[in-house]
Amino acid sequence: MTPTKKLNIGMSLAPTWLSGDAWRRPDSGVENLFTCDFYLDIAQRAEEAKLDFAFLPDSLFLNTGVLETAAGFASLDPTLLQASIAGRTSKIGLLSTASTTFFPPYIVARQIQSLNWLSKGRAGWNIVTALDGNDNFGLSEMPSPEERYARAAEFTDIVRRLWQSFPQESLQFDRTSGLYADPAKIKSIDHDGTYFKVKGPLNLPCYDKARIPLIQAGASEAGRAFAASVADAIFASTPDRAAALDLRTDLRSRARAGGRNEDDIRVLPGLSLFLAPTAAEAKELYAETNARVSRQRSLDTVLEMTGLDLSDWPADRKIAATDLPAPPEKVRSRTHSDLLRRMIERDEPSVEELLKRPEVIGSAHWLVVGTPADAVGTIRDWAKAGAIDGFVAFPGGSVGSVSLFLEQVVPALSDLGLFRENYRGSTFFDHLNDR
Ligand SMILES: Cc1cc2nc3c(=O)[nH]c(=O)nc-3n(C[C@H](O)[C@H](O)[C@H](O)COP(=O)(O)O)c2cc1C
Repeated sequence: MTPTKKLNIGMSLAPTWLSGDAWRRPDSGVENLFTCDFYLDIAQRAEEAKLDFAFLPDSLFLNTGVLETAAGFASLDPTLLQASIAGRTSKIGLLSTASTTFFPPYIVARQIQSLNWLSKGRAGWNIVTALDGNDNFGLSEMPSPEERYARAAEFTDIVRRLWQSFPQESLQFDRTSGLYADPAKIKSIDHDGTYFKVKGPLNLPCYDKARIPLIQAGASEAGRAFAASVADAIFASTPDRAAALDLRTDLRSRARAGGRNEDDIRVLPGLSLFLAPTAAEAKELYAETNARVSRQRSLDTVLEMTGLDLSDWPADRKIAATDLPAPPEKVRSRTHSDLLRRMIERDEPSVEELLKRPEVIGSAHWLVVGTPADAVGTIRDWAKAGAIDGFVAFPGGSVGSVSLFLEQVVPALSDLGLFRENYRGSTFFDHLNDR
């Protein structure tokens, strides 16, 4: 499976390059974290690199447990921030995140459509069912994954119908006759479903010149079924190439089975990049960034994700597949838990090795610790193997990683014919399809 297509590449605006201890570097700019300019700078540089989109994930709770040493999940509202970036960029897609578990669909439809107008067709919606935050929304616990995805499907359908309920072409602005809009073209949606009751129409016309891309994050059985039915791309955690290939093969076959074209659903894994001019410096960067992750925190993570309590185990004891208890009934993310279990089953790591794994100390994203050339080589290999349609870059460890990615990795991918040299369209949807 050799793809002839170009990659779709997004850039995280979530400051992953300040995570762990990286915020302590003198040039981190951490003091500016809650200003627009901090993010605008990255978005403008990503636009100079001709990337498809700038991405803001989001969560609706504060992890006070980590605040003593790191930023936790404190952040500006992603859609407001993208709206302020919209006026000072002109091409790059602006992907915001909104939860289908906590927000009402009418509000999300309006916010994302507003972003689409403000950016002239560059808005995208990252659909999340969310991992945490129920306490902030009157819910004693997170709804089950099945319920969250059933709700997400109904929610997304409502949002799309609301977008169509007030088409731009209904606007007439006929000064002579006095006809402002053609009321026959504006329709309520009269939705009365399992989770929502929404009359419509939306109180904002649709920016008809650009379809808003839908990205979905979450890759459990229910998540994949949902993504394959509706999403233009899935934002995925795939720590190894086989996991990405499995996911992409599976999603493409689900899309075909559902009557969609298999190319309609793109697999875009997060790619964590600890980059430096030499491999040794990159390794050091990775080690320094994660130097303060405590053993206890890693043990807690393994317990929460797999149900395996390793606190009394000797460091050199190997963990076999048979040591894994049945998956805990409640986990924050089945995607992440399944990936970790899969890795233990495959690699049978020792306790010490497991506690050092990126899936445990950081994230389950695809990880490159090395030079820009190492990153280019790995990306090319994954693309050639048909494991990805693109990726979302999460530079880590330093602002230097951001620069090396944008200024060296991306141009090298263009030289290899794996990425565009220039924008051809002006909407997010155009960029996704410019392959
Ligand atoms: C790669 C990835 C990124 C995610 N990003 C977010 C996010 O920004 N905000 C959020 O609330 N949830 C996020 N989630 C959580 C998912 O929306 C989902 O609620 C969770 O993964 C559970 O679904 P699953 O069982 O299909 O994994 C993300 C999940 C994955 C796998």
